[in-house]
Amino acid sequence: MANNEDIFKKIISHAKEYGFVFPSSEIYDGLSAVYDYGQYGVELKNNIKNYWWRAMVQYHENIVGIDSAIFMHPTIWKASGHVDAFSDPMIDNKDSKKRYRADVLVEDYAAKIEDKINKEVEKAAKRFGESFDEAQFRATNQRVVEYQAKITDALARLNKNLTDNDLAAVKQLIEDLEIVCPVSGTKNWTEVRQFNLMFNTQMGSLSEDTNTIYLRPETAQGIFVNFLNVQKTGRMKIPFGIAQIGKAFRNEIVARQFIFRMREFEQMEMQFFVRPGTELDWFEKWKAERLAWHHSLGLGPENYRFHPHDKLAHYANAACDIEFKFPFGFKELEGIHSRTDFDLSAHQQFSGKKLQYFDPELNESYVPYVIETSIGLDRTFLAILSSAYTEEKLEDGSERVVLRIPPVLAPIKAAILPLIKKDGLPEKAREIMDALKFDYLCQYDEKDAIGRRYRRQDAIGTPYCITVDHQTLEDNTVTIRERDSMLQERVSIDAVSEIIRKKIAVKL
Ligand code: GAP
Repeated sequence: MANNEDIFKKIISHAKEYGFVFPSSEIYDGLSAVYDYGQYGVELKNNIKNYWWRAMVQYHENIVGIDSAIFMHPTIWKASGHVDAFSDPMIDNKDSKKRYRADVLVEDYAAKIEDKINKEVEKAAKRFGESFDEAQFRATNQRVVEYQAKITDALARLNKNLTDNDLAAVKQLIEDLEIVCPVSGTKNWTEVRQFNLMFNTQMGSLSEDTNTIYLRPETAQGIFVNFLNVQKTGRMKIPFGIAQIGKAFRNEIVARQFIFRMREFEQMEMQFFVRPGTELDWFEKWKAERLAWHHSLGLGPENYRFHPHDKLAHYANAACDIEFKFPFGFKELEGIHSRTDFDLSAHQQFSGKKLQYFDPELNESYVPYVIETSIGLDRTFLAILSSAYTEEKLEDGSERVVLRIPPVLAPIKAAILPLIKKDGLPEKAREIMDALKFDYLCQYDEKDAIGRRYRRQDAIGTPYCITVDHQTLEDNTVTIRERDSMLQERVSIDAVSEIIRKKIAVKL
C-alpha cells in the first residue's frame, strides 16, 4: 500500500496531467510557490467560490458581498498592524544558504518525534492485538513518555520565546535541540530575524511622486474600510455581514506542500458586524455554521476538527481553526476569529473618519465588534482534490483512477459520448449536447473506445457519462453511467437534464 507521501505526489502529478493545476511559468522552470489553474482547475475553483457565495450571501438575507481593489492606501496596513507585525521569524543556514522559518524548524522537530511515538504505538498495537489500550500505553510506556516530554518542552519554549519576541532565545532553542539543516546537514545557523510577509511595489510613474503600496495579504481590510459605505447604501442593520472573495499575497518564507502554502492565493472571507458584548455567542454560531458547510460537501466529518488557538493575536478575544486531514496530516483550512472592534477602531483613528453604527434599539452609536470567517480557496481545492483522488481495482482486474469530486463542484457535469463515430450517432449526441450545454458544462467526446473515454471522464471527476447508441435512434433513450458506482441505466433523453439537476442540487 502506498504511503501518504506517495499518494500526495500522485495527486500533484494527476492535477498536472489532467489540467487542474500547473506550476506557474513552467517553461522558465517555474516560480516557487506560485501555481496556475488549468482548464478543469478553474472550473472546480469557480464552483467552490460559487458554493461558498451561495451559502454565505444568497442564503443569508443579512450578508452582502463586495469586490474591493487589491491596491489600497498604504496607511491601511499601518492601521491594521501588518506593517509592524505581519512577520515570521526567519533563519538561514550558512552552508546551504537555505532560508527557513525558525518556528517551523522546531515544529518539524516535534513532528519527527511524534512519528516515532506513532511507530511505537503501531508496534505495540500489533503485539497486544485486541487487548491493546492505546491511552494507557501512551501514558505509561517509558520511551513514549520521554518522547512526549521532549515535544511538550520544545513547543512550550517556542511559544514563550515567540510571545516574548525573544529571537535570540529561539536561536538558542534550535541549537539546544541540535536541529540540522535538511539540505547541508550542518548546524551553522545565522541569527533569527523577523521577516515581513507583505509584498510591496511603487504606485505612480517615476516622474510623479512615488508611493510604496502593498499587495494585500488578506482581503479582510477591504471589507473594513468599506464598512460604512455598505452599511449606509445597503441600509444594513446590525448584525450583518460583508463577504468577499479575492486574491491575497504573502511572501512566505517556507512555501511547500503544493497549493497549501502559496505566495499568491485566494481567500473567501466574511466579516460579521455585531453589537459589542454579543460577539462570543456569534463566534460559536459561526463556528457551527462553517463546520456544517464543510460537512455538506460530503468529504466525511472525520476529516475535520476544530483547533482552538492557545495564543491569541493582539486583536482577538477568541479564535479557532477548522483543520482538514490533508495527506500530510491535519492542517488549517479556515480561521474563525472574534476580532473585537480592533480593525474598525484602528481605521477610525488612522483615517480620522468615524466608523460607527447608530443602533436604533439602544439609541446609541458604537464601533461594532466583528466575527471573521476566513477560508483559503486553494486549500479548499486541495482538500477536495486529495480526498477525491481514488485508485480502484476493478472486478475485471483492470485499474482506474477516479476523482470522487462532490458532483455540485465537479468541473464537467456530463460527457456526451456517441458509441461509434458513424451511423448518425455523432449527430444525435451533438443534439443532446446542444440541449444540455446552456445549463451544465458538458463535454462531447467521440475519440477512442468507449471504455477509455469513461476512464478519461473518471479521471477528471465527471459525475455522468451519457452514451448514445443505435437504440437511441430508435426510441430516444440513452445509457447514463454514474461515476462512482459505474452503474449504467437506460433512460429517456428527456429525463437526463433532471437527473443531472438532482445530482448537483445544493443541500445545505
Ligand atoms: N483575515 C484573516 C486571515 O487572513 P489567516 O489565518 O492568515 O487569516 C486565512 O488566513 C486562510 O487563508 C487560512 O486558513 C488559509 O486557508 C488561507 N491561507 C493563508 N495563507 C495562505 C497561503 N500562503 N497559501 C494558501 N492559503 C493560505
